[in-house]
Amino acid sequence: MDKLDSPIYVTQPALPDLEDFIPYLRQIWENKILTNNGPFHKQLEKELAEYLGVPYISLFANGSLALLTALQVLRIGGEVITTPYSFVATTHCLWWNNIKPVFVDIEPEFCNLDPEKIEAAITPKTSAILPVHVYGNPCKIERIQEIADIYGLKVIYDAAHAFGVRYNGQSIFNYGDLSVLSFHATKVFNTMEGGAIVCHDAPTKKRIDYLKNFGFAGETTVIAPGINSKMNEMQAALGLVQLKHNQENIDKRRAIVGLYRKHLSGIPGISFLPEPQNTVSNFAYFPIFVEEIEFGMSRDQLYENLKQANIYGRRYFYPLISDFPMYRNLDSASPANLPVARYTADRVQCLPLYPILEPEQIMHVARLIKLLRQRTNSPDTHQPINAEAQNKVP
Ligand SMILES: Cc1ncc(COP(=O)(O)O)c(C=O)c1O
Repeated sequence: MDKLDSPIYVTQPALPDLEDFIPYLRQIWENKILTNNGPFHKQLEKELAEYLGVPYISLFANGSLALLTALQVLRIGGEVITTPYSFVATTHCLWWNNIKPVFVDIEPEFCNLDPEKIEAAITPKTSAILPVHVYGNPCKIERIQEIADIYGLKVIYDAAHAFGVRYNGQSIFNYGDLSVLSFHATKVFNTMEGGAIVCHDAPTKKRIDYLKNFGFAGETTVIAPGINSKMNEMQAALGLVQLKHNQENIDKRRAIVGLYRKHLSGIPGISFLPEPQNTVSNFAYFPIFVEEIEFGMSRDQLYENLKQANIYGRRYFYPLISDFPMYRNLDSASPANLPVARYTADRVQCLPLYPILEPEQIMHVARLIKLLRQRTNSPDTHQPINAEAQNKVP
């Protein structure tokens, strides 16, 4: 089968001009401060708090360590209610804290934790809810908070996908007790690896900062069994440069999503998520959902066909976290408990989306999907699918 000359992956990290980064590196080399709350770390915390409109932010080496630490910050234990439809780190951080994950199904509209199913999963051991703003779309925040307030539970949002998202006129990170961010290479805003916790008050920020630095509260005082999850100066410096381009990157993402929506709408068996209400989106992902009977092939067949054509989407989030060996024996992991999550995981595929994706590339992906639909429904076409689409690339 003919292929594109170079592959298109689901994402490609946004990077600034190297020239813009070099002065920061020079400064690190000159002052020899590499980590431990150095000047770039301090500056990035300040700039991010202003940019996002949040009161307090603490930077981390990555999002997973931020999640692990967030649970320690609020002294969460026992059982935590969470979603099976996420990246595996969401649940692994519970495991590392010796907390039992209790999986609750998702709602079909945005694939986030379904608040209407939370109450049935609460037991005397439940201490918190750990929802995820999947694909950057806000969870049903008001309803989740209402339930948390009634039962005295903490809410920690895994907001790894939601950088820059605003809901009801303010940062989405201002909801819940804590929000945890990831600045991994694949995210809308990256520091190569990196992460953060957003909190609402100074004492909590102080505790977070102790815990991410071994529990040190002074030169010789250790007040808690902390860990080393600090962001270093190179990461922070990159973040400062990246931040200057963030809005421009999100604008490019918005345009790409617009093209996908336009060129993929009306294909039988292909659907996508609606635009969330009262939300400023970050256009982090573009998931499509494949109905096998209407489309003429399964999601996995579409995924393989696109791969053959050098287009590498990803099946975020398949398999469900609850299907991995370390979780599948939990009662809450039973398929009967998670029908919507399972249905969604079997149909989803995220299409390539990153700021420098060209309109022709997007059109090429859309055209291939259309052609695959036509071909599976007209058996007498014999030309390799990618050759057909290639011939039509402008
Ligand atoms: C939903 C979610 N949670 C947590 C993480 C972990 O973040 P990190 O890779 O920065 O450790 C990721 C992705 O990487 C994620 O997608």
